[in-house]
Amino acid sequence: MREKVVLAYSGGLDTSVAIKYFQEKYNMDVITVTVNIGQLEDLNEIAERAKALGAIKHYSIDALNEFAVNYIFPAIKANALYEGKYPLGTALGRPLIASKLVEVAEKEGANIVAHGSTGKGNDQVRFDVTIKALNPKLKIIAPVRDWNLSRDEEIEYVKKHNLPVEIKKSIYSIDQNLWGRSIESGPLEDPYSEPLPEVFQWTKPLDKTPDQPEYLELEFKGGVPIAVNGQEMDPVSLIQYVNKVAGEHGIGVIDHMEDRVVGIKSREVYEYPAATCIIEAHKDLEKLILTRHQLAFKSIVEQQWAWLVYSGLWVDPLRIDLQAFIDSTQRYVEGKVKLKLYKGGLRVVGRKSPYSLYNYALATYESKSIFDQRAAIGFINLWGLPSCLANSMSKEVKKEGIH
Ligand code: ARG
Repeated sequence: MREKVVLAYSGGLDTSVAIKYFQEKYNMDVITVTVNIGQLEDLNEIAERAKALGAIKHYSIDALNEFAVNYIFPAIKANALYEGKYPLGTALGRPLIASKLVEVAEKEGANIVAHGSTGKGNDQVRFDVTIKALNPKLKIIAPVRDWNLSRDEEIEYVKKHNLPVEIKKSIYSIDQNLWGRSIESGPLEDPYSEPLPEVFQWTKPLDKTPDQPEYLELEFKGGVPIAVNGQEMDPVSLIQYVNKVAGEHGIGVIDHMEDRVVGIKSREVYEYPAATCIIEAHKDLEKLILTRHQLAFKSIVEQQWAWLVYSGLWVDPLRIDLQAFIDSTQRYVEGKVKLKLYKGGLRVVGRKSPYSLYNYALATYESKSIFDQRAAIGFINLWGLPSCLANSMSKEVKKEGIH
């Protein structure tokens, strides 16, 4: 009996060549899977191409809402920015796609799964770890990495077999989903050269953005956005809408020197209009609601969370444990944040919450204040005690020397 392989199929060159290779060189049946998490490509066209290349079956799985609710929302609660910059779109998408591959493989009785990652990036780590953790019996093949295919060889192969694959001339490597767009390679490999306007699709160039600022009011409940400008929206529509509005103002361009899991530094350019607005607003709202102790500890947890997700360990129990802590902090994270968008810039200009810890009577400089200033004197004596002790000791030592 021919072996069956379940392949994550994007419709692009690498995975199209792989479909044919598996049949021709390895004598395997190929089942293709395309998981929609907002790549905006034509899913029917992809399905047809898979069939034309000889896939015995194709799955088109719509996981857009699942991606928003189970992957992006936890990232919002975690204010997730890898190395303080990257909102992790690709990193969040991979474990979801991997879990669908495993599901299909189990359903179809296949013992091999395959994906199009190279051997130089993070995606191979994310796919492989998730697949191995969910089903250790599955064998994994990443054709580009494992067969060491080069682009030229692939193009040669496409021509020789007259495969129905469009060979795009794009010099950039692009990955996009609902949460954002990542662009790498080509001229971007020189970290000093400014990205050409052609790389941007979601964000307007600054000389084309509106000359008037625009306000955006984001409403959160349980730490996640539920409404924009007073209008309730489902998670997917809300993210799409904010992407559009903020993109019009040129917001969300991130140009980042990034440390990959495999040790390489790479220059990454991102477009994340909605993520930039939503995370900024969410962070601000938390500052109104959480105690300083919660905030300080949460920021450590957030960094660890982002690192685990970036480095492919979505399925690790530590990520799940940190998630439980983060979720617990979100129970009162409810309220509204007003953002002002203008010429690529974003400002929080107002925030309110029924669970605010801001107390006007304590904070005001007016005479009505209930804060007893005299209490500060004793507080400062004790607060500064260790520092004062250390300073007077070192003065003594300087004067007397050590005996
Ligand atoms: N550097 C990002 C990450 O590792 C994005 C990678 C996107 N992939 C691409 N082919 N452009 O998550």
